[in-house]
Amino acid sequence: MRKGRFQQSLSEVARRYSESASFDRRLYRHDIAGSIAHVTALVKAGIVSAPEQKQIEAGLREIEKELDSGKFQWDASLEDVHMNIESALTKKIGETGAKLHTARSRNDQIALDLRLYVKDQINRTSSQIKKLQTSLLDLAEKNVDVVMPGYTHLRRAQPILFAHYLLGQVEAFARDVERLNNGLERTDVLPLGSGALAGSTIVLDRELIARELGFARVSQNSLDAVSDRDFVCEFLFCLAMIGMHLSRVSEDLIIWSTIEFDFVEFSEGFSTGSSLMPQKKNPDMAELTRGKIGRLYGNLISILTTLKALPSSYNRDLQEDKEALFDSVDTISAALELCTAMLPELKINRERMEEAASDPNLFATDLAEYLVGKGMAFREAHEIVGKLVANAIDKGTKLNAIAPADLKKLSPLFGVDIADVFDVRRSLAARRAIGAPSPENVKAQIKSWRNQLR
Ligand code: ARG
Repeated sequence: MRKGRFQQSLSEVARRYSESASFDRRLYRHDIAGSIAHVTALVKAGIVSAPEQKQIEAGLREIEKELDSGKFQWDASLEDVHMNIESALTKKIGETGAKLHTARSRNDQIALDLRLYVKDQINRTSSQIKKLQTSLLDLAEKNVDVVMPGYTHLRRAQPILFAHYLLGQVEAFARDVERLNNGLERTDVLPLGSGALAGSTIVLDRELIARELGFARVSQNSLDAVSDRDFVCEFLFCLAMIGMHLSRVSEDLIIWSTIEFDFVEFSEGFSTGSSLMPQKKNPDMAELTRGKIGRLYGNLISILTTLKALPSSYNRDLQEDKEALFDSVDTISAALELCTAMLPELKINRERMEEAASDPNLFATDLAEYLVGKGMAFREAHEIVGKLVANAIDKGTKLNAIAPADLKKLSPLFGVDIADVFDVRRSLAARRAIGAPSPENVKAQIKSWRNQLR
């Protein structure tokens, strides 16, 4: 690369500072696929003959095998994955290899490799999410009749089914898959053929390259194509969002597994001990998941910051996109794998959940709605039940233990049938509107998600 223009070689410290082969080697399969497709266009443009194409392709396939098996000899004096592969090809097949880089720059080459990589990762992440959703559904199905208190502000609010909680997580992850697929549309654009920034005087059939590589579209502006990393930002945002969802589930499970709640218990295979306190059984896997998600936010901010002040077209700063991207991919993939494996082993303490869900205060709203059913305006009913709650607290009794005479004093609408109000199964069964947690709805949702995930 320096042969013609430079007299001196790159300083050793500069070489170490700028090399990317140590991390962009991860892109070798995509780089080779891109080169093979590029050659088909070079043949059509009359630059490479059909026999030469065969030679180049065979050489690249051999190199790919060496890379797959770890036998490839990386040359530290060559900056990146592109130069390493191109140089290995020329060593292997001679002169013909030197034609490969015609009408191509590493600027459009890296943009291509990254898009191919992100496309793959979008699909991989989606299928990992689907496995996690299946894990959540299995758990919901196994515990379909387990009731628990639903919380707002981390205070007991109203009864729900545990399965309803789990289905809520399935929803969030479904949005994540949708978001990934939406980003796929903007990632699925071929940048190759944009050259360094201004295309080439050698005209390539870019539609042909796009077909070879399975791209839906071809970029329409060479300047934009070599500088566009929007798809990386979007993907990193998607991963950050998935991570945020995982972190929230982790947080719930950590809280619910405390001795204070005692709703769930992590299996021993997913718990750690303390080096000091012999009695401890800690939820480190969920804590690590919650903790690792910070990196995903950091990586997103890092790429956005790199991009914000770049002059148009390609600048070397863009090399900084890769480690952030790879780190997020590795982090989310490990976290999804962990959660998918951990959930089936979670022990559900249905007695404790049920007991907590029978707290009469959880039915205060049901009681107000009982009065509404007898014709009272909701605001009035809310106030009356509020007074009942205050009375019960005063007397140190429960909402369902107030004497009928005392109730009548507050409203003549109270009848003997109010005992039913405190029945958790009745309360749940009545919550039948779309999206509400009646057992019937929950069962239908489990079935519907099963079909969607199949
Ligand atoms: N390693 C560079 C990157 O990751 C691609 C090579 C382009 N380098 C260059 N000096 N034009 O973006």
